[in-house]
Amino acid sequence: MRRRFEPAGPLRGHVTPPPDKSISHRAALFAAMTDEPVRIENYLRADDTMSTLDAIRSLGAGVQEENGTVLVRGVGMRTAAPTTGGMLDVGNAGTLLRILPGWLAGQPGGLWRLDGDESIRRRPVDRIVEPLRLMGAELEARDGRLPPLVVKGAELTGIDYQLPVASAQVKSCLLLAGLLAEGHTAVTEPAQSRDHTERIICRARVPFEREGLRLLVYPVDELELDDVVVPGDPSSGSFLAAAACLVPGSRVCLDAVALNWTRTGFFRIAQRMGAVVVGELEERESASSTEEPAGELDIAQAPLEATTVGADEVPLAIDELPLVALLGCFAEGETVVSGAAELRLKESDRIAGVVDGLRALGADIDATDDGFAVRGGTGLEGGTLDARGDHRLAMLGAIAGLASRDGVEVEGMEAAAVSYPQFEEAVAGLTS
Ligand code: S3P
Repeated sequence: MRRRFEPAGPLRGHVTPPPDKSISHRAALFAAMTDEPVRIENYLRADDTMSTLDAIRSLGAGVQEENGTVLVRGVGMRTAAPTTGGMLDVGNAGTLLRILPGWLAGQPGGLWRLDGDESIRRRPVDRIVEPLRLMGAELEARDGRLPPLVVKGAELTGIDYQLPVASAQVKSCLLLAGLLAEGHTAVTEPAQSRDHTERIICRARVPFEREGLRLLVYPVDELELDDVVVPGDPSSGSFLAAAACLVPGSRVCLDAVALNWTRTGFFRIAQRMGAVVVGELEERESASSTEEPAGELDIAQAPLEATTVGADEVPLAIDELPLVALLGCFAEGETVVSGAAELRLKESDRIAGVVDGLRALGADIDATDDGFAVRGGTGLEGGTLDARGDHRLAMLGAIAGLASRDGVEVEGMEAAAVSYPQFEEAVAGLTS
Protein backbone atom coordinates (compact mmCIF):
# COMPACT_ATOMS: atom_id res chain seq x y z
CA MET A 1 0.00 0.00 0.00
CA ARG A 2 1.42 3.37 -1.13
CA ARG A 3 0.63 6.50 0.83
CA ARG A 4 1.72 10.08 0.21
CA PHE A 5 2.57 12.46 3.06
CA GLU A 6 2.64 16.11 1.99
CA PRO A 7 4.60 18.87 3.76
CA ALA A 8 2.49 19.83 6.77
CA GLY A 9 1.54 23.03 8.53
CA PRO A 10 2.16 23.12 12.31
CA LEU A 11 1.09 20.01 14.22
CA ARG A 12 -1.05 20.99 17.19
CA GLY A 13 -3.03 19.21 19.87
CA HIS A 14 -3.14 16.31 22.29
CA VAL A 15 -2.78 12.69 21.33
CA THR A 16 -2.79 9.47 23.36
CA PRO A 17 -0.34 6.99 21.84
CA PRO A 18 -1.55 3.39 21.43
CA PRO A 19 -1.01 1.02 24.37
CA ASP A 20 2.60 -0.03 24.89
CA LYS A 21 3.62 -3.04 22.80
CA SER A 22 6.36 -4.36 25.10
CA ILE A 23 4.19 -4.16 28.23
CA SER A 24 1.19 -5.71 26.43
CA HIS A 25 3.26 -8.76 25.34
CA ARG A 26 4.58 -9.25 28.86
CA ALA A 27 1.22 -8.73 30.56
CA ALA A 28 -0.36 -11.42 28.34
CA LEU A 29 2.48 -13.91 28.86
CA PHE A 30 2.63 -13.43 32.63
CA ALA A 31 -1.16 -13.59 32.89
CA ALA A 32 -1.06 -16.91 31.01
CA MET A 33 1.40 -18.23 33.61
CA THR A 34 -0.80 -17.15 36.54
CA ASP A 35 -3.42 -19.42 38.14
CA GLU A 36 -5.96 -16.71 38.94
CA PRO A 37 -7.59 -14.64 36.17
CA VAL A 38 -5.82 -11.36 35.30
CA ARG A 39 -7.50 -8.34 33.73
CA ILE A 40 -5.30 -6.31 31.35
CA GLU A 41 -6.66 -2.85 30.75
CA ASN A 42 -5.73 -0.93 27.59
CA TYR A 43 -4.15 -3.95 25.87
CA LEU A 44 -2.65 -3.10 22.47
CA ARG A 45 -4.82 -4.29 19.58
CA ALA A 46 -2.17 -4.49 16.87
CA ASP A 47 -0.83 -7.37 14.77
CA ASP A 48 2.12 -8.20 17.05
CA THR A 49 0.22 -8.34 20.32
CA MET A 50 -2.70 -10.23 18.73
CA SER A 51 -0.12 -12.91 17.86
CA THR A 52 0.67 -13.14 21.58
CA LEU A 53 -3.00 -13.61 22.50
CA ASP A 54 -3.26 -16.35 19.83
CA ALA A 55 -0.14 -18.04 21.21
CA ILE A 56 -1.36 -18.12 24.81
CA ARG A 57 -4.75 -19.41 23.61
CA SER A 58 -2.91 -22.26 21.87
CA LEU A 59 -1.13 -22.95 25.14
CA GLY A 60 -4.45 -23.42 26.91
CA ALA A 61 -5.16 -19.95 28.37
CA GLY A 62 -8.65 -18.49 28.13
CA VAL A 63 -8.72 -15.03 26.53
CA GLN A 64 -11.75 -12.75 26.53
CA GLU A 65 -11.58 -9.33 24.88
CA GLU A 66 -13.95 -6.48 25.64
CA ASN A 67 -13.55 -2.76 24.87
CA GLY A 68 -9.77 -2.69 25.08
CA THR A 69 -9.71 -4.89 28.20
CA VAL A 70 -8.46 -8.45 27.99
CA LEU A 71 -9.31 -11.01 30.62
CA VAL A 72 -6.81 -13.89 30.71
CA ARG A 73 -7.50 -17.13 32.55
CA GLY A 74 -4.02 -18.56 32.81
CA VAL A 75 -2.83 -22.15 32.99
CA GLY A 76 -0.23 -21.64 35.74
CA MET A 77 3.55 -21.67 35.60
CA ARG A 78 4.15 -25.33 34.99
CA THR A 79 1.23 -26.56 32.94
CA ALA A 80 1.66 -25.29 29.40
CA ALA A 81 2.24 -28.88 28.28
CA PRO A 82 -1.29 -29.88 27.15
CA THR A 83 -0.55 -28.43 23.71
CA THR A 84 2.51 -30.59 23.22
CA GLY A 85 3.39 -30.91 19.57
CA GLY A 86 1.87 -27.50 18.94
CA MET A 87 2.75 -25.08 16.20
CA LEU A 88 2.94 -21.52 17.46
CA ASP A 89 2.66 -18.78 14.85
CA VAL A 90 4.40 -15.64 16.14
CA GLY A 91 3.60 -13.62 13.00
CA ASN A 92 6.00 -10.64 12.87
CA ALA A 93 6.55 -10.47 16.66
CA GLY A 94 10.24 -10.79 17.54
CA THR A 95 9.47 -10.15 21.21
CA LEU A 96 7.09 -13.14 21.34
CA LEU A 97 9.60 -15.29 19.44
CA ARG A 98 12.39 -14.54 21.93
CA ILE A 99 10.51 -14.36 25.26
CA LEU A 100 7.99 -17.23 25.05
CA PRO A 101 10.65 -20.00 24.71
CA GLY A 102 11.85 -19.12 28.23
CA TRP A 103 8.54 -20.43 29.58
CA LEU A 104 8.25 -23.38 27.20
CA ALA A 105 11.82 -24.57 27.81
CA GLY A 106 10.96 -25.30 31.44
CA GLN A 107 7.96 -27.59 30.69
CA PRO A 108 9.33 -31.17 30.76
CA GLY A 109 7.62 -33.33 28.14
CA GLY A 110 6.44 -30.38 26.02
CA LEU A 111 7.37 -29.89 22.38
CA TRP A 112 6.64 -26.77 20.32
CA ARG A 113 7.60 -25.29 16.96
CA LEU A 114 7.67 -21.49 16.71
CA ASP A 115 7.53 -19.92 13.28
CA GLY A 116 6.29 -16.70 11.70
CA ASP A 117 6.34 -14.50 8.61
CA GLU A 118 9.15 -13.96 6.12
CA SER A 119 10.77 -11.23 8.24
CA ILE A 120 10.67 -13.32 11.44
CA ARG A 121 12.57 -16.06 9.61
CA ARG A 122 15.52 -13.66 9.37
CA ARG A 123 15.57 -12.83 13.12
CA PRO A 124 18.37 -14.67 14.96
CA VAL A 125 17.38 -16.95 17.84
CA ASP A 126 20.84 -18.32 18.70
CA ARG A 127 21.01 -15.59 21.36
CA ILE A 128 18.34 -17.49 23.35
CA VAL A 129 19.17 -21.01 22.14
CA GLU A 130 22.69 -20.96 23.58
CA PRO A 131 21.86 -19.93 27.17
CA LEU A 132 18.67 -22.05 27.29
CA ARG A 133 20.74 -25.08 26.26
CA LEU A 134 23.17 -24.30 29.06
CA MET A 135 20.15 -24.47 31.39
CA GLY A 136 19.32 -27.96 30.08
CA ALA A 137 16.65 -27.25 27.45
CA GLU A 138 16.68 -28.86 24.02
CA LEU A 139 16.23 -26.48 21.13
CA GLU A 140 16.77 -26.63 17.41
CA ALA A 141 16.89 -23.76 14.96
CA ARG A 142 17.35 -23.60 11.19
CA ASP A 143 21.08 -23.40 10.46
CA GLY A 144 21.50 -23.30 14.24
CA ARG A 145 20.35 -19.67 14.41
CA LEU A 146 17.09 -18.87 12.62
CA PRO A 147 13.38 -19.78 12.97
CA PRO A 148 11.56 -22.11 12.80
CA LEU A 149 12.59 -22.81 16.37
CA VAL A 150 11.79 -26.15 18.00
CA VAL A 151 11.65 -26.11 21.80
CA LYS A 152 11.58 -29.33 23.80
CA GLY A 153 10.83 -28.68 27.46
CA ALA A 154 13.10 -30.09 30.17
CA GLU A 155 14.00 -29.80 33.85
CA LEU A 156 16.13 -26.65 33.90
CA THR A 157 19.04 -25.67 36.10
CA GLY A 158 19.94 -22.06 36.86
CA ILE A 159 22.99 -20.44 35.24
CA ASP A 160 25.02 -17.30 35.73
CA TYR A 161 24.91 -15.67 32.31
CA GLN A 162 26.53 -12.55 30.88
CA LEU A 163 24.60 -11.25 27.86
CA PRO A 164 26.99 -10.39 25.00
CA VAL A 165 24.64 -7.60 23.82
CA ALA A 166 22.07 -5.59 25.81
CA SER A 167 18.71 -7.11 24.84
CA ALA A 168 15.51 -6.91 26.82
CA GLN A 169 14.09 -9.85 24.89
CA VAL A 170 16.96 -12.21 25.74
CA LYS A 171 17.11 -10.98 29.33
CA SER A 172 13.35 -11.56 29.70
CA CYS A 173 13.54 -15.04 28.18
CA LEU A 174 16.23 -16.11 30.66
CA LEU A 175 14.44 -14.57 33.64
CA LEU A 176 11.31 -16.55 32.72
CA ALA A 177 13.32 -19.75 32.39
CA GLY A 178 14.94 -18.90 35.73
CA LEU A 179 11.52 -18.93 37.42
CA LEU A 180 11.29 -22.62 36.46
CA ALA A 181 14.91 -23.64 37.01
CA GLU A 182 16.50 -25.33 39.97
CA GLY A 183 18.78 -23.03 41.98
CA HIS A 184 19.15 -19.38 41.13
CA THR A 185 19.57 -17.80 37.70
CA ALA A 186 21.67 -14.66 37.27
CA VAL A 187 21.57 -12.51 34.13
CA THR A 188 23.93 -9.58 33.60
CA GLU A 189 23.58 -7.06 30.76
CA PRO A 190 26.40 -4.94 29.34
CA ALA A 191 24.11 -1.89 29.44
CA GLN A 192 20.63 -1.20 30.79
CA SER A 193 17.81 -2.20 28.44
CA ARG A 194 14.06 -1.78 29.03
CA ASP A 195 13.11 -3.32 32.37
CA HIS A 196 9.39 -4.14 32.03
CA THR A 197 9.96 -7.83 32.78
CA GLU A 198 11.79 -7.02 36.01
CA ARG A 199 8.94 -4.75 37.09
CA ILE A 200 6.24 -7.30 36.32
CA ILE A 201 8.21 -10.06 38.08
CA CYS A 202 8.38 -7.89 41.22
CA ARG A 203 4.66 -7.19 40.99
CA ALA A 204 4.00 -10.95 40.66
CA ARG A 205 5.47 -11.31 44.19
CA VAL A 206 8.41 -13.41 43.11
CA PRO A 207 11.76 -13.31 44.95
CA PHE A 208 13.95 -11.14 42.78
CA GLU A 209 17.15 -9.15 43.24
CA ARG A 210 18.83 -6.40 41.21
CA GLU A 211 22.46 -5.55 41.83
CA GLY A 212 23.17 -2.88 39.22
CA LEU A 213 23.02 -4.67 35.87
CA ARG A 214 23.01 -8.14 37.49
CA LEU A 215 19.58 -9.68 38.03
CA LEU A 216 18.80 -12.75 40.12
CA VAL A 217 15.66 -14.90 40.10
CA TYR A 218 14.68 -18.04 41.98
CA PRO A 219 12.26 -20.85 41.11
CA VAL A 220 8.60 -20.40 42.03
CA ASP A 221 5.49 -22.54 41.76
CA GLU A 222 3.02 -19.77 41.16
CA LEU A 223 2.67 -16.11 40.32
CA GLU A 224 0.26 -13.69 41.95
CA LEU A 225 -0.45 -10.95 39.48
CA ASP A 226 -2.89 -8.10 40.08
CA ASP A 227 -4.66 -6.45 37.18
CA VAL A 228 -2.36 -4.63 34.76
CA VAL A 229 -3.00 -1.21 33.20
CA VAL A 230 -0.94 -0.67 30.05
CA PRO A 231 0.26 2.93 29.52
CA GLY A 232 0.72 4.58 26.10
CA ASP A 233 3.67 3.47 23.97
CA PRO A 234 6.53 6.00 24.01
CA SER A 235 8.05 4.41 20.89
CA SER A 236 4.86 4.98 18.89
CA GLY A 237 4.50 8.44 20.44
CA SER A 238 8.05 9.31 19.38
CA PHE A 239 7.05 9.43 15.72
CA LEU A 240 4.48 12.15 16.41
CA ALA A 241 6.95 13.85 18.77
CA ALA A 242 9.58 13.89 16.00
CA ALA A 243 7.12 15.60 13.67
CA ALA A 244 6.49 18.19 16.39
CA CYS A 245 10.28 18.71 16.73
CA LEU A 246 10.64 19.37 12.98
CA VAL A 247 7.62 21.19 11.58
CA PRO A 248 7.84 24.92 12.40
CA GLY A 249 5.23 26.19 14.82
CA SER A 250 4.30 22.72 16.11
CA ARG A 251 3.35 21.86 19.67
CA VAL A 252 2.08 18.37 20.51
CA CYS A 253 1.17 16.88 23.86
CA LEU A 254 1.43 13.11 24.32
CA ASP A 255 -1.07 12.06 26.99
CA ALA A 256 -0.89 9.00 29.26
CA VAL A 257 2.42 7.89 27.79
CA ALA A 258 4.76 5.46 29.59
CA LEU A 259 7.55 7.37 31.33
CA ASN A 260 9.67 4.41 32.41
CA TRP A 261 13.19 5.89 32.05
CA THR A 262 14.42 2.81 30.15
CA ARG A 263 12.05 3.81 27.33
CA THR A 264 12.37 7.57 27.14
CA GLY A 265 15.91 7.85 25.76
CA PHE A 266 14.69 9.38 22.49
CA PHE A 267 13.02 12.28 24.28
CA ARG A 268 16.23 13.05 26.19
CA ILE A 269 18.19 12.95 22.91
CA ALA A 270 15.68 15.28 21.20
CA GLN A 271 15.89 17.63 24.20
CA ARG A 272 19.68 17.62 24.00
CA MET A 273 19.44 18.49 20.30
CA GLY A 274 17.44 21.59 21.22
CA ALA A 275 13.80 20.51 20.88
CA VAL A 276 11.47 21.71 23.61
CA VAL A 277 10.43 18.59 25.56
CA VAL A 278 8.67 19.13 28.87
CA GLY A 279 7.81 16.23 31.19
CA GLU A 280 9.24 13.71 33.64
CA LEU A 281 12.38 12.58 31.82
CA GLU A 282 14.62 11.37 34.63
CA GLU A 283 17.88 9.71 33.69
CA ARG A 284 17.04 6.93 36.11
CA GLU A 285 14.35 6.07 38.67
CA SER A 286 14.95 4.29 41.93
CA ALA A 287 16.25 0.77 41.28
CA SER A 288 13.29 -0.66 43.16
CA SER A 289 10.56 0.79 40.92
CA THR A 290 7.95 -1.82 40.17
CA GLU A 291 5.18 0.35 38.72
CA GLU A 292 5.07 1.59 35.14
CA PRO A 293 4.88 5.38 35.47
CA ALA A 294 2.83 7.30 32.91
CA GLY A 295 2.12 10.97 32.27
CA GLU A 296 2.29 13.79 29.80
CA LEU A 297 5.07 14.93 27.48
CA ASP A 298 4.81 18.29 25.76
CA ILE A 299 6.93 18.72 22.61
CA ALA A 300 7.51 21.87 20.56
CA GLN A 301 9.64 22.71 17.53
CA ALA A 302 12.92 24.61 17.97
CA PRO A 303 16.19 24.88 16.00
CA LEU A 304 18.20 21.65 16.37
CA GLU A 305 21.90 20.93 16.83
CA ALA A 306 23.72 17.68 16.06
CA THR A 307 24.51 15.17 18.80
CA THR A 308 26.28 11.85 19.34
CA VAL A 309 24.63 8.71 20.69
CA GLY A 310 26.83 5.88 21.98
CA ALA A 311 26.50 2.27 23.16
CA ASP A 312 25.18 3.04 26.67
CA GLU A 313 22.36 5.19 25.39
CA VAL A 314 21.46 2.95 22.43
CA PRO A 315 19.29 0.38 24.31
CA LEU A 316 17.27 3.21 25.87
CA ALA A 317 16.26 4.49 22.41
CA ILE A 318 16.78 1.40 20.25
CA ASP A 319 13.48 1.57 18.34
CA GLU A 320 13.68 5.36 17.94
CA LEU A 321 17.17 5.58 16.43
CA PRO A 322 15.69 5.98 12.91
CA LEU A 323 14.10 9.17 14.24
CA VAL A 324 17.45 10.39 15.57
CA ALA A 325 18.69 10.09 11.96
CA LEU A 326 15.69 12.09 10.76
CA LEU A 327 16.24 14.83 13.35
CA GLY A 328 19.91 14.78 12.33
CA CYS A 329 18.93 15.79 8.76
CA PHE A 330 17.52 19.05 10.16
CA ALA A 331 20.17 19.69 12.85
CA GLU A 332 23.27 21.89 12.44
CA GLY A 333 26.41 19.73 12.35
CA GLU A 334 27.04 15.99 12.22
CA THR A 335 24.87 13.57 14.20
CA VAL A 336 26.56 10.24 14.86
CA VAL A 337 25.02 7.06 16.26
CA SER A 338 27.41 4.21 17.14
CA GLY A 339 27.24 0.96 19.12
CA ALA A 340 23.94 0.11 17.42
CA ALA A 341 24.82 -2.95 15.29
CA GLU A 342 21.63 -4.53 16.72
CA LEU A 343 19.67 -2.33 14.33
CA ARG A 344 20.76 -4.63 11.51
CA LEU A 345 18.78 -7.46 13.16
CA LYS A 346 15.41 -5.76 13.61
CA GLU A 347 12.27 -6.26 11.49
CA SER A 348 14.57 -5.19 8.62
CA ASP A 349 18.24 -4.17 8.51
CA ARG A 350 17.38 -0.75 9.94
CA ILE A 351 20.80 0.76 9.33
CA ALA A 352 20.47 0.03 5.60
CA GLY A 353 16.76 0.95 5.55
CA VAL A 354 17.28 4.30 7.28
CA VAL A 355 20.39 5.27 5.33
CA ASP A 356 19.08 4.26 1.87
CA GLY A 357 15.62 5.59 2.69
CA LEU A 358 16.70 9.04 3.91
CA ARG A 359 19.40 9.39 1.27
CA ALA A 360 16.74 8.88 -1.43
CA LEU A 361 14.91 11.86 0.12
CA GLY A 362 17.99 14.06 -0.11
CA ALA A 363 19.86 13.38 3.15
CA ASP A 364 23.65 13.50 3.45
CA ILE A 365 23.93 10.27 5.47
CA ASP A 366 26.36 7.34 5.59
CA ALA A 367 26.09 3.92 7.17
CA THR A 368 28.79 2.57 9.47
CA ASP A 369 29.06 -1.02 10.73
CA ASP A 370 27.25 -0.14 13.93
CA GLY A 371 25.27 2.99 13.17
CA PHE A 372 25.23 6.03 10.91
CA ALA A 373 26.46 9.61 10.50
CA VAL A 374 24.22 12.40 9.16
CA ARG A 375 25.38 15.87 8.14
CA GLY A 376 22.35 18.04 8.62
CA GLY A 377 21.02 21.54 8.49
CA THR A 378 19.49 21.44 5.02
CA GLY A 379 16.37 19.37 5.72
CA LEU A 380 14.89 16.96 3.17
CA GLU A 381 13.56 17.42 -0.34
CA GLY A 382 11.29 14.38 -0.55
CA GLY A 383 10.72 11.40 -2.84
CA THR A 384 9.88 7.76 -2.17
CA LEU A 385 10.83 5.64 0.85
CA ASP A 386 10.46 1.85 0.87
CA ALA A 387 9.30 0.55 4.28
CA ARG A 388 10.81 -2.90 3.56
CA GLY A 389 7.95 -4.48 5.53
CA ASP A 390 9.16 -2.69 8.70
CA HIS A 391 6.57 -0.72 10.71
CA ARG A 392 9.10 1.75 12.08
CA LEU A 393 10.49 2.55 8.63
CA ALA A 394 6.95 3.09 7.29
CA MET A 395 6.24 5.65 10.04
CA LEU A 396 9.68 7.23 9.56
CA GLY A 397 8.84 7.84 5.88
CA ALA A 398 5.51 9.42 6.82
CA ILE A 399 7.06 11.84 9.32
CA ALA A 400 9.86 12.65 6.88
CA GLY A 401 7.13 13.59 4.38
CA LEU A 402 5.47 16.05 6.79
CA ALA A 403 8.83 17.76 7.42
CA SER A 404 10.06 17.66 3.79
CA ARG A 405 9.85 20.34 1.08
CA ASP A 406 8.10 18.21 -1.60
CA GLY A 407 6.41 15.35 0.29
CA VAL A 408 7.20 11.65 0.61
CA GLU A 409 5.51 8.61 -0.85
CA VAL A 410 5.81 5.60 1.47
CA GLU A 411 5.84 2.19 -0.19
CA GLY A 412 4.42 -0.43 2.22
CA MET A 413 2.56 1.82 4.69
CA GLU A 414 0.44 -1.15 5.84
CA ALA A 415 3.39 -2.30 7.99
CA ALA A 416 2.45 0.38 10.58
CA ALA A 417 -0.36 -1.94 11.75
CA VAL A 418 2.23 -4.09 13.54
CA SER A 419 2.46 -1.53 16.35
CA TYR A 420 0.28 1.51 15.53
CA PRO A 421 -2.84 0.71 13.49
CA GLN A 422 -4.28 4.24 13.98
CA PHE A 423 -1.07 6.04 13.03
CA GLU A 424 -2.46 7.80 9.95
CA GLU A 425 -5.57 8.99 11.84
CA ALA A 426 -3.34 10.34 14.62
CA VAL A 427 -1.25 12.29 12.07
CA ALA A 428 -4.40 13.61 10.40
CA GLY A 429 -5.80 14.70 13.79
CA LEU A 430 -2.70 16.77 14.56
CA THR A 431 -2.30 18.33 11.12
CA SER A 432 -5.96 19.26 10.35
C1 S3P B 1 11.80 -5.27 22.96
C2 S3P B 1 13.15 -5.17 23.04
C3 S3P B 1 13.99 -4.58 21.98
C4 S3P B 1 13.15 -3.75 21.03
C5 S3P B 1 11.90 -4.44 20.61
C6 S3P B 1 11.04 -4.74 21.83
C7 S3P B 1 11.06 -5.89 24.08
O1 S3P B 1 14.61 -5.63 21.27
O2 S3P B 1 13.92 -3.40 19.90
O3 S3P B 1 11.15 -3.62 19.73
O4 S3P B 1 9.83 -5.73 24.19
O5 S3P B 1 11.71 -6.56 24.89
P1 S3P B 1 16.00 -6.31 21.78
O6 S3P B 1 15.72 -6.99 23.06
O7 S3P B 1 16.36 -7.28 20.69
O8 S3P B 1 16.96 -5.17 21.89
